[in-house]
Amino acid sequence: MKFFIDTANLDQIREAMDLGILDGVTTNPSLMAKEGIRGEENIRKHYIDICNIVDGDVSAEVIATDYDGIIREGKELAGLHPQIVVKVPMIKEGVKAIRQFSKEGIRTNCTLVFSPGQAILAAKAGATYVSPFIGRLDDISTDGVELIAQIVDIYRYYEFDTQVLAASIRHTMHIIQCAEVGADVVTCPLNPILGLLKHPLTDIGLEKFLADHNKK
Ligand code: E4P
Repeated sequence: MKFFIDTANLDQIREAMDLGILDGVTTNPSLMAKEGIRGEENIRKHYIDICNIVDGDVSAEVIATDYDGIIREGKELAGLHPQIVVKVPMIKEGVKAIRQFSKEGIRTNCTLVFSPGQAILAAKAGATYVSPFIGRLDDISTDGVELIAQIVDIYRYYEFDTQVLAASIRHTMHIIQCAEVGADVVTCPLNPILGLLKHPLTDIGLEKFLADHNKK
């Protein structure tokens, strides 16, 4: 299972990278705005900065919602750096654009996916990644992890190449649950990743080992 970090914060990306477990980054327009990155030029420079920190894929989201605009913007984003994956929303024009990008060898991440039907369309169109948002489903009393399980089953049954990228992860247990149902990738904020480190018996055990070692 690959680990992506879901942020545009360069310090957090560096911290996850330093841990040695980071495979990529996802961003979205809200995460960019949260870091105060505004304006086309600054946003594009920020994507390049992110690519220069990490070794893996970096999702950069298009703003356009019409076919021609998505194609134009997606090609510009993909041209910024070889690590860029073009993030395209699950709308009719987006599906058409993903198909075209796939034909041209441009990698895509189909975002804002909330149902198995949408995930089937993304795979049929040739998306590299599909991003089901599990936290936002949980927020409306629907089981987000169950959606990941359904999509993984469907993709395995038909041997689709599209990778299931579990997004909108809110806590550490989401990561474990996504691993249990076979998600290819999880993208999460830094804190849920760091949460995986924690166990009180580890702390107690280490304290005892060190105390025993230091006994005279
Ligand atoms: C996915 O790529 C999105 O950037 C992200 O996971 C959305 O998460 P949120 O629901 O916490 O905003």
